Amino acid sequence: MCGIVAYIGRKPAKHLLLEGLKRLEYRGYDSAGIAILGTTLKVVRTVGRVRALEDQIEKQGEIDGTLGMAHTRWATHGGVTEKNAHPHLDDGKLGHGIALVHNGIIENYAVLKRYLEDKGHVFKSETDTEVLAHLIGELYRGDLERAVQGALREVTGAYAIAVICAKEPDTLVVARKGSPLMVGVGKDEYIVASDSSAIVAHTTQAFTLADYTVAKLTRESFRTTTVDNVPVDAQVKELEFDLEQIDLGTFEHYMLKEIFEQPRSLRVCMQGRIDDRAGQVVLGGVSEFARRLATARRIVFVGQGTALHACMVGTYLMEEMAKIPSDWDFASEFRYRNPIVEEGTVVVAVSQSGETADTLSALMEAKQRGALALGIVNVVGSSIARETDAGVYLRVGPEIGVASTKAFVGQVMVAAMLSLFVGRRRFLSSEFTLAYLKQLKSVPDCIDRVLEQSDHIRSVTAKYIHRENWLFLGRGVNYPVALEGALKLKEISYIHAEGMPAAEMKHGPIALIDHGMPAVFVATRNSQYEKVLSNIQEVRSRGGHVIAVATEGDDHVRSLCEDVFYVPDLPEHLQPLVTVVPLQVLAYHAALMRGKDVDKPRNLAKSVTVE
Ligand code: M6R
Repeated sequence: MCGIVAYIGRKPAKHLLLEGLKRLEYRGYDSAGIAILGTTLKVVRTVGRVRALEDQIEKQGEIDGTLGMAHTRWATHGGVTEKNAHPHLDDGKLGHGIALVHNGIIENYAVLKRYLEDKGHVFKSETDTEVLAHLIGELYRGDLERAVQGALREVTGAYAIAVICAKEPDTLVVARKGSPLMVGVGKDEYIVASDSSAIVAHTTQAFTLADYTVAKLTRESFRTTTVDNVPVDAQVKELEFDLEQIDLGTFEHYMLKEIFEQPRSLRVCMQGRIDDRAGQVVLGGVSEFARRLATARRIVFVGQGTALHACMVGTYLMEEMAKIPSDWDFASEFRYRNPIVEEGTVVVAVSQSGETADTLSALMEAKQRGALALGIVNVVGSSIARETDAGVYLRVGPEIGVASTKAFVGQVMVAAMLSLFVGRRRFLSSEFTLAYLKQLKSVPDCIDRVLEQSDHIRSVTAKYIHRENWLFLGRGVNYPVALEGALKLKEISYIHAEGMPAAEMKHGPIALIDHGMPAVFVATRNSQYEKVLSNIQEVRSRGGHVIAVATEGDDHVRSLCEDVFYVPDLPEHLQPLVTVVPLQVLAYHAALMRGKDVDKPRNLAKSVTVE
C-alpha cells in the first residue's frame, strides 16, 4: 500500500531511487513520482508504473542531485491522477520548497485542510497527504526537523514519510507511525525505504524506525527523536536478507517462482524446529509461553485474505492436535464486534507482511482485552511481529507476487508445528508426534510431485479458460483450500469464482450450475471423501464439469470427473499443504492465458495498510 524510498548521500539519487521504487512496486502501482534536490527542486509524477515514470523523466530532461525521494502509490484518498501522485509540495506562494512522500492515511486531514485554507494555502490534489506538506510548510521557521515534528504532533492516523526542503540541501527528514519504514546506513549515505528490498543492494546495515519517531539524516550523521524532540536510540542491525531472494532468476513471474520455491521454503521453515529424538517441536519464539499455551481455554486465529484461509486451517489443526476450542475470524470483523476475550484466550495474528492494518488492529484490541497475543508472520521486525507477545516466523523468504502462495503453505506449516507443540505439552505421546512430524517432513517432496504436473494443469486450465464463472468446493480442512483456490483465480485472472463448503452448494449455489460450468472439487481421501463424491455427482448430473484434486492412485475419482490433479497422500489435517498447490498453478496459468499482469493485478497491493 504505497512504497516510499528516499536517499541522501554522495551518489546521483535518480538511478538509485528508481531501482528502489521498482523493488517496492508490488506495494502499489497506480502512479509514481520522484523529487530530487539538485541546484533546484525537481518533481516528476505520472499515472502508471515506474516504467512510465522513467519515460516521463526522459521527456522532461535530466534531474540531478544527491538528495531525493520517490513514491509508488495505491490510491486511497483521491483518484488515480497525476495531481494525486506523490511527492506533494507545500503551497507555491506560501511555500518553502517542501516535498513529501507518504504511506498511510492522515485521518484528520479535513480539519487540517480547512485550517490551512483559512491561512491562504491552496491545495492542488484530493489527497490527505498534501495537507501534511502544507502543514510542515506552515510551521517551517528555517528548521525542517522541527517543522516535521510540529506537524506530526497535530496529525492523527498512520504515516511513513520522507521530507526534503529546497532551503536545506543537506537534510532528509523521515518519520513513521503505523506504516513501515527502514533506514539503511551506508558510508556517508542513507537510503530509507518501506522495506529492506530497496535497501539491500546498497547496504546491509539498517534500523527500523520505531513508531512516533523522527529521524534527521545528513550525509555525515543521523539523529532520532520523538515528535516532542526527545532523543531516542536507534539500533543499527545487519539485514537478514540477500538480493538473490528477490531476483526472478529464470522465472517469468514472481508468483511462479514463489510457487516453485514452496518445497525449499518449507524445508527452511522446519529447519531446527523438529526434534526427532524427543518427538517434539522446538519453537524458541513461543517457548516462554509454553505453559500458558498448554492451559489455554480458547484460541482465536485472525487474518485477512489468504492469511485468513490459513487461520481456518489452523483451527482444524489446533482442535485436532491440542484439543483446545479454536475459532477463526476476519481480523476486520473481530476488531469491531466487541469481542469477548475471557481468561485463557490466545489470539494468533496470521500475516505474511506483518503490516496488514486490519490484523494489526485486531491484535491490539485482543491485547487490550487481556489475550495472549501470538503472531505467525513472515516479515521479520514488521509491526505485527513487534506488537505480539511472542510468535513464530514463517522463514519462507520475501514474497513479492501480490497473490500469496508460499506464505500460505508457510502459515499452515507453522500452524501445524504450533498445534503439535501445544498438543505435546498436553497429551500427545512422543510416538504419535514423531509419526506426525515424519509426515510433515515429507511435505516438500510431496509438493515437488504436484509441481511435476504443471504442464497437465496448464492444459486443463486451457479447456475452461473461456468460462466466466467457477466454483471451488471442499469439506472440512479442505474447505479453506476451496476458498483459497477461488481467491487465487479471481484476484489475478479476474474470473468470477466462488469457494464454499461442498455441502453448502445444494442450499442455493447449485442453481448456478449450467452446462459446462467448471467446478473444482478438493476430493482427497479423508473422513469426508464419500460425501464429497456425492457432491461431485450432484454437479455432474446438472451438466457441470468437475475438476478434482484427488489422492494419487484414486482411479474411482477419475471415472467420475472430467479432469483430475493428483496429490500425494497425507494425513487429513496436512492435506491443505498439497491440495492448494494445483489450484495456485491453475490460477497462474489462467491469468497468463487471459493476458493479465500476474504479479501486479489491478486494484490490488501486496500489503493493505489501511483499515
Ligand atoms: O500480508 P498479509 O498476509 O496480512 O495479507 C493479507 C491479505 O491482504 C493477503 O493475503 C491478500 O488476500 C493476498 N492478495 C492474497 O493472495
